[in-house]
Amino acid sequence: MEIKKLSQHDLVAVMEIEADLFGTEAWLETSMKSEINGDFTHYFGVFQEGLVGYAGLSSVPNTFVSDIQTIAIAKSHQAQGLGRALAESLVAKARALGSEAVFLEVRADNEPAIALYEKLGFTQIDIRKKYYQPSGVDALVMRLEVHQPIVLGVESSCDETGIGIVKGNRLLANALHSSMDEHAKFGGVVPEVAARAHLEAMQPTIERALKEAQLSMTDIDAIAVANGPGLAGALMVGIGAAKALAIANDKPIYAVNHLVGHVGADVLESGSVTLPTIALLVSGGHTSLLLVRDLLDDVELLGETIDDAAGEAFDKVARVLGLPYPGGPEIDKLAETGDPKAIRFPRGLSLPKDMVKHRFDFSFSGLKTAVARHVEKAEDQQLPLSKPDVAASFREAAVDVLLTKAINACERYEVKRLLLGGGVVANARLRQQAKLRCEVAGIDLRIPRFSLCTDNGAMIASLGAQLVMAGREPSSLGFGAESTLEVTKVQSH
Ligand code: KG4
Ligand code: ZN
Repeated sequence: MEIKKLSQHDLVAVMEIEADLFGTEAWLETSMKSEINGDFTHYFGVFQEGLVGYAGLSSVPNTFVSDIQTIAIAKSHQAQGLGRALAESLVAKARALGSEAVFLEVRADNEPAIALYEKLGFTQIDIRKKYYQPSGVDALVMRLEVHQPIVLGVESSCDETGIGIVKGNRLLANALHSSMDEHAKFGGVVPEVAARAHLEAMQPTIERALKEAQLSMTDIDAIAVANGPGLAGALMVGIGAAKALAIANDKPIYAVNHLVGHVGADVLESGSVTLPTIALLVSGGHTSLLLVRDLLDDVELLGETIDDAAGEAFDKVARVLGLPYPGGPEIDKLAETGDPKAIRFPRGLSLPKDMVKHRFDFSFSGLKTAVARHVEKAEDQQLPLSKPDVAASFREAAVDVLLTKAINACERYEVKRLLLGGGVVANARLRQQAKLRCEVAGIDLRIPRFSLCTDNGAMIASLGAQLVMAGREPSSLGFGAESTLEVTKVQSH
């Protein structure tokens, strides 16, 4: 016996069983076809030298419930436990989708089916009188509760102390403390200052998150923590706190990759990450282009910055223009009144010769230097300098190179989906151009809400929950901070 996802090729066999079992009440082939191919429906077949039964589940993302639509076994193969096997597959699927309850309707006169569902833990919650027509048989409505793991996630890789709590795919709390103001006078994140700030903010932020979720530590099923990449000293504070929580409360711990966390954040927004996807992560600490085929098992690094991160470039250029830290929002604002075509600044690693080794890598240091030179030259020669024009032209160059490479990656890998993450996603021009260019290229663009784009604990909790839901073993307590953790290592053990 084999149970696998149904495809359109199975339609004829499905319709034969359907017609044989349900006669005039059978579904039409067109409806069955759209169920099998549906975005929110999941159909499985049981095969024994050919199809002998099938079952379907429907689950709309973010509703956190699933409905069993049908379970059908060919007459010749009934009473062999195949219905139970299919029902178990549907429940497992519902669990993996993040459902907290599974519903179904069953004919009140179908005693074997009712007994089966009761064995699986379903209980009757309602009765629909004379639901089945023309027979006039009642329908029992049954429900199964599914416990989804409650995971507390700890994020401390840069200047944000983030504590998030999720239940499966559902966001319960996302508490954040940022030490950004403390770095302002230095014009960038100072690692020691960040680490000390995490130390001070950790306990209150944990308490805030628990309060927001209306939970206590005893309700938490597992702890997740980002162990890299990031600033070693900052990561260590979060890891220390997470391990202490795990030991003191006797909870399993999962060490997860911060970058993959950015991708996993979309689960909390959309109910799932539609895969495969290209992901462009742009912040003050990273600029990475990823190909994600599977969130837990197949994340490939296509390219990254070879010098400054995109956000860092915004921060440095802001300094040259005499704007405060963080520079991204300041430049973004100033650029609105400037001409993006006023100055042609260089696009890093975009020449034909770069396409061999660095096709999907980024470089922003040349761009930053070009801006500095432009400003110096104007000052030296006492020429008029339009700061809005410089800001707009710089922003244009940065956004252009980010999106050109991201969209090229979508085309090269034939993945018509692009997910954005990281603090630079706040950039107005980046959002506008991403929308425009993706529309033109027929690419489905995903941008989670901003609080899930910037560094946060919820994305770490979410990735941890995905690992728990997939039945992965927890990490041992021996893991440490890995400031250059490669993106292929989703969980450290
Ligand atoms: O993800 P994030 O909050 O965390 C760190 O990497 O620390 O990203 C912060 C970065 C900063 O470099 C900031 O200047 C940049 O994101 N940023 C922006 C904008 N808003 C924030 N960059 C460009 N345009 C913006 N509107
Ligand atoms: Zn980040």
